[in-house]
Amino acid sequence: MAGYLVSDNRKVTTHRFIEMKQKGEKISMLTSYDYTTAGIVDRAGIDGILVGDSASNVMAGNSTTLPMTVDQMIYHARSVVRAVKRALVVCDMPFGSYQTGVHDGVVNAIRIMKESGCDALKMEGGVEILDTVKAILDAGIPVMAHLGLTPQSINKFGTYAVRAKEEKEAAKLLSDAKALSEAGCFAVTLEKVPAALAEQVTREISVPTIGIGAGGKCDGQILVVADMLGMNQGFSPRFLRRYADLNTVMTDAIGQYVTDVKSGDFPNESESY
Ligand code: KIV
Repeated sequence: MAGYLVSDNRKVTTHRFIEMKQKGEKISMLTSYDYTTAGIVDRAGIDGILVGDSASNVMAGNSTTLPMTVDQMIYHARSVVRAVKRALVVCDMPFGSYQTGVHDGVVNAIRIMKESGCDALKMEGGVEILDTVKAILDAGIPVMAHLGLTPQSINKFGTYAVRAKEEKEAAKLLSDAKALSEAGCFAVTLEKVPAALAEQVTREISVPTIGIGAGGKCDGQILVVADMLGMNQGFSPRFLRRYADLNTVMTDAIGQYVTDVKSGDFPNESESY
């Protein structure tokens, strides 16, 4: 099956994201962490690829995103950038690379941009990190904000449950989104928040909201690629739609290969020199 037919083959920019919101065109995003997957995702017509620090869970098997380092994010982002021709490539700033202050944040942001070749960075947090976000924007680096469930703060939250259900947290999220968009962030990721709150944020800020578990009224959607392809069977949050069952496809194919090797069927004459 062919991918989504893109009407515009030009490289997607952060400005295009904002234009898409203005035109009411939904923005599609997925994560990728490696060259092969990113090439498939890009050719299928995705608008944006996030090199997420969820690589920590998906690629390395950690239980949180906290262990990711700047060097590891650069390795993954560089692999993705080599494959991508059209999509906007956004790289996560990992835990510890900007929480220690403005100077560290700018130094690490510049390093990730220089060494990975990605187009933009994503950072978790609200007004607490506003000065650092502003300094990174001042350095000419586009920033996507990330509010709601911010996995780098999982030890503070203590749970991956839906955020901002209470009025006080919802009001803070709305004012954080306004402050970050007014500061110049080109988009705001909203993770695991009530759909009504995400709709209000989407209405009240001028830059696109990209939702994951934030309902259908966001300007765009993002999922973790391994989850939506059904590679990972143990993770079934309500917001996840599985578009394939690659776990079964891969297990069956590998099982068949094992059988063929054991029986001597592989390789046959036409597969030999
Ligand atoms: O790291 C990641 O994959 C993310 C998405 C869940 C938004 O931040």
